[in-house]
Amino acid sequence: MSEQTRLRIGVLASGRGSNFDAIARAAASGSIPATVAVLITDRASARALQIARHHRIEAVCIEPRDYPSREAHEAQVIATLEKHGVGLVCLAGYMRILTGAFVKHFEGRLLNIHPSLLPLFPGLRAQRQALESGVKVTGATVHFVDEGVDTGPIVAQAAVPIRSNDTEETLADRILLEEHRIYPEAIRLLAEGRLTIEGRRVRIEERS
Ligand code: GRF
Repeated sequence: MSEQTRLRIGVLASGRGSNFDAIARAAASGSIPATVAVLITDRASARALQIARHHRIEAVCIEPRDYPSREAHEAQVIATLEKHGVGLVCLAGYMRILTGAFVKHFEGRLLNIHPSLLPLFPGLRAQRQALESGVKVTGATVHFVDEGVDTGPIVAQAAVPIRSNDTEETLADRILLEEHRIYPEAIRLLAEGRLTIEGRRVRIEERS
């Protein structure tokens, strides 16, 4: 596939950036037919910036406090993604809730990863929510983003059993391993044109 036809990905991350790293590695190794064109972060301290440097991916820090409104900040994020010719936006620990306008702009081209088996435990501290609820199995979900918080159509999930001695941290670590596996896998399916959103369901075209 030529550089011109390869899907171009923009990743939005606020912190550690381990999912961004997994996506960048998968793209670099050729296991997803896509190029990570740009990393955008809303925090100058985000470790994701160092990871971008390591992968030689262009990184842009767009801090909300430099803009007069949420809309103005988002407009700059959109302009940066467009400037890089991005066809898919991956949220990877991006700690801001996007406006409806942003979601509409990238409708069907906007993915997120969440550390639970959605629709259970949306929102913050999903691992703690799972521990406190007493469930025996939790996991990770890749989903298209809609206007709700962690409510969009589900692309991929992986289950992670909860152990009786788990803490929030040990559980988060095991879920993270699954996140790093299913996020690149979901992106590969999208890049290969195999995902169709049908209402709440995502149909995956099987290939032999
Ligand atoms: C991950 O647990 C992801 O599921 C959630 O935020 C965390 C980001 O971790 N949305 P990282 O920055 O990718 O390491």
